[in-house]
Amino acid sequence: MILRETIDEVKNRLDIIDVISDFITLKKSGQNYKALSPFTNEKTPSFFVVPSKGIFKDFSSGKGGDSFTFLMEHEGMSYTEAIRYLAKKYGVEIKETQATEDEAVQGDRESLYILMNFAKEYYKSNLTQTDEGKSIGLSYFRERGFNDKTIEKFELGYALGGWEHFSEEAVKKGYNRELLEKAGLVVKKEDGSSYDRFRGRVIFPVHNISGKVIAFGARMLGKEKNQPKYINSPETEIYHKSNVLYGLFQAKNPIRQNDNCYLVEGYTDVISLHQAGVDNVVASSGTALTEDQIKLIRRFSENVTVLFDGDAAGIKAALRGIDLILKGGLNVRVVLFPDGDDPDSYSRKVGSTAFQEFLKNNRKDFISFKADLYSAEAGSDPIRKAESIREIVTSIALIPDPVKRTVYIQQTSKILGIDETVLYSELNKLLIRDRTKRQEQRQVMEKEIRAQIPELVTSFSFNPSKVVEIQERETIRLLLNYSNKSLQGQFLGVLLLNELDDVSFVNPTYKKIFEEFLEAERDSRRLDSGYFMENGTPEVKELVSELMVLKYLPSPHWSDKYNIFFPKDDEELDKKAISNVMHLKYRMIQLWSESNLAQLKEAKTDAEVDQLLEKQESYKRADVALSEKLGIASGKY
Ligand code: UTP
Ligand code: MN
Repeated sequence: MILRETIDEVKNRLDIIDVISDFITLKKSGQNYKALSPFTNEKTPSFFVVPSKGIFKDFSSGKGGDSFTFLMEHEGMSYTEAIRYLAKKYGVEIKETQATEDEAVQGDRESLYILMNFAKEYYKSNLTQTDEGKSIGLSYFRERGFNDKTIEKFELGYALGGWEHFSEEAVKKGYNRELLEKAGLVVKKEDGSSYDRFRGRVIFPVHNISGKVIAFGARMLGKEKNQPKYINSPETEIYHKSNVLYGLFQAKNPIRQNDNCYLVEGYTDVISLHQAGVDNVVASSGTALTEDQIKLIRRFSENVTVLFDGDAAGIKAALRGIDLILKGGLNVRVVLFPDGDDPDSYSRKVGSTAFQEFLKNNRKDFISFKADLYSAEAGSDPIRKAESIREIVTSIALIPDPVKRTVYIQQTSKILGIDETVLYSELNKLLIRDRTKRQEQRQVMEKEIRAQIPELVTSFSFNPSKVVEIQERETIRLLLNYSNKSLQGQFLGVLLLNELDDVSFVNPTYKKIFEEFLEAERDSRRLDSGYFMENGTPEVKELVSELMVLKYLPSPHWSDKYNIFFPKDDEELDKKAISNVMHLKYRMIQLWSESNLAQLKEAKTDAEVDQLLEKQESYKRADVALSEKLGIASGKY
């Protein structure tokens, strides 16, 4: 057991900002710091660090605590691992009593790290201390132009030919065979004996984000047939391929400093780029990025530049993988290398300065890149052109930020020579289809909340459900009267329908009309008041006719008191529509929040309380965001 005094000493010395900054980028905000939540995939920061108290709180996931908690949650360390890690970081000598059995179990991962470190040192020393290593391994790296500094930076090594060089050495040093197997360093045979996994190959250690070796890639040297070019470590307790990026340990600070991450395919591309003076680079190791890997990059920068080999066949396949990056909310740029070259070969061909120039001059925004690619292919063939539009708009629809989407629609319109309205209508089809899916998921929650509303109405000092109703009414009025009006290349109806994504209408008649509009939009029909006058139920007809003729002018104190918006219709209709939407959402949030608080008072179990608190936090965030936009004071919670 680690002694209390050691833990106290660590606590005295540590600085939570310093601890957390090793993993994510914090931005100062007043006395405190904030960042995008590393635990969820969010667009606005809700991860806060309060240095004066030594704590963090992540409103997005609900996690929070001190530096130890952070390391446990974020890096998957045990408490003891976190203490050891911080003691090392702050130069505190660890004093401990004899290990307990419990700790021996916890120490399992620790022993894997120790063994992997031993293996790394062993492979490294082979490279420079043995004749075979020097004449085969080192000369191979030299041929590829890797210098000593690079070899040391990436801790490259060499595995001797022969079946048991490594395992013999490891066993001699006291590591047992079972652990070697757990670490994936040996392969077990049917008869129970085992042999070294890596033989006669150069070794590329894979580091985790804090620099510990967790896996190896081993490249063959010659051109033996029937042999894979690389043999990699299998998944182990400390190595999960899908959330590791090769080179991230070496690249994390440069990525933060440059606010950009270059993405390449392989080990050698990463290393060659470092040699060419470009050190903000990671590799996906030959496969498409996973969501976890994208989250990893996001911790350090929101900008990714993908470097493509210049062979046309590979490009299209690679484009698919990029869609996932867009969906993760990252800004994607691409650089295409001349045919036949990859980042590794090209950087060596032209040298460091020219290579860096090349990256600077040839990087292109991904959507424009894709648009260029497809428009060149389609030429003037109308069918292929329609396909191109669909392809590109599919990518644009994945981008979570609507402002960015608008910019991309404008660009694409220029590149393809196609009217923005056409692109918007294609985009909206996709967005509406997407929303339908999300709406289904939300229905359950909505029902729950709805059930609470009648009681709530009476408990308010002013009557928010009345306010909501008026906002709803205004929305329907805008839809009925102006849905066909085009605003900035977009129909007002479409804009409203898209924006009201998160809102469930309370009034059943308004809800019915709204849903008819949605339904029609899905089939690209556009409704107006005439449609409802013909097809509506008597209630609907009554309402529609009222709204059509109504010059809606309630007493002015309503607009002051509740910030309800009453437009003079012809002025700035678009701004008014958006403002109306936001006010409606704002009121809905208040309703939901009140309902939630009521449930909280009744909650019986801890789990129930936790869940409701989490909901409350999300309402609060929405409330703050909306009231900020609307310029009104946020509600009380
Ligand atoms: P490449 O074939 O492009 O390899 O595969 P490379 O890294 O550029 O190596 P050189 O330049 O030919 O020496 C890209 C990545 O795909 C994974 C490795 O991570 C490699 O770096 N890969 C490839 C494997 O895991 N196994 C293989 O057999 C081949
Ligand atoms: Mn290569």
